[in-house]
Amino acid sequence: MRSNRNIYGVTSSPLHELAMELKTPSVEIDVGLFLRFFCKTAKPVNILEIGCGIGVSTRYMAEAAPDARITALDHNHVRLAQAREIAVGIKNITFIQSEGVEFMRNSTEKYDLIFIDSVKKDYPVMYHYAENLLTDKGAVIMDDVFCYGYIFCEDCEIPDKYRALAGVFRDFLYRIKYTRDHSILPIGGGVLVTYRG
Ligand SMILES: C[S@@+](CC[C@H](N)C(=O)[O-])C[C@H]1O[C@@H](n2cnc3c(N)ncnc32)[C@H](O)[C@@H]1O
Repeated sequence: MRSNRNIYGVTSSPLHELAMELKTPSVEIDVGLFLRFFCKTAKPVNILEIGCGIGVSTRYMAEAAPDARITALDHNHVRLAQAREIAVGIKNITFIQSEGVEFMRNSTEKYDLIFIDSVKKDYPVMYHYAENLLTDKGAVIMDDVFCYGYIFCEDCEIPDKYRALAGVFRDFLYRIKYTRDHSILPIGGGVLVTYRG
């Protein structure tokens, strides 16, 4: 995907601009670039994406891993239709309308990479199912694990609306920190990478 650069780095790409026009959330550019780097270096062959939206993140992965099979799903049929339209002609992506946990619970396939960027409160349960679908050297990548930055705040500073969610993320990351090989990257909304093997 072509990116625009200026002295501050990469500032935009046509797909990000389209996502803004459609008022649809998408990965930040630094997360897209990380996905691209990861796919080029780890060379995943079978990729699952949960919460593809209009497919900005999907495209970063598809272009970096042209020989990979990518299954991209979203439960929102409007976004999925837009994703299909935008990605027309790209052969290695299959878009599926499905709820993420339900899909993973019923899946018998194994994946080298599972990228999750969906509803935040479900991240722990999504992680549980994703981990069980990994190949021996597979990885799970999750965007937005800093919970909009609130995991770093004192509880008293967190708006009521986000307090419980920040607690969910703190517990989740604490568990990951002591039980899994992982990296937490300060890009986008906070990216968690856990590795198997
Ligand atoms: C932040 S957007 C994803 C943006 C996408 N990664 C991109 O870069 O274009 C989150 C998406 O997750 C979808 N979503 C949320 N919860 C979901 C779930 N439980 N199962 C499937 N999709 C879900 C939403 O419909 C939304 O399109």
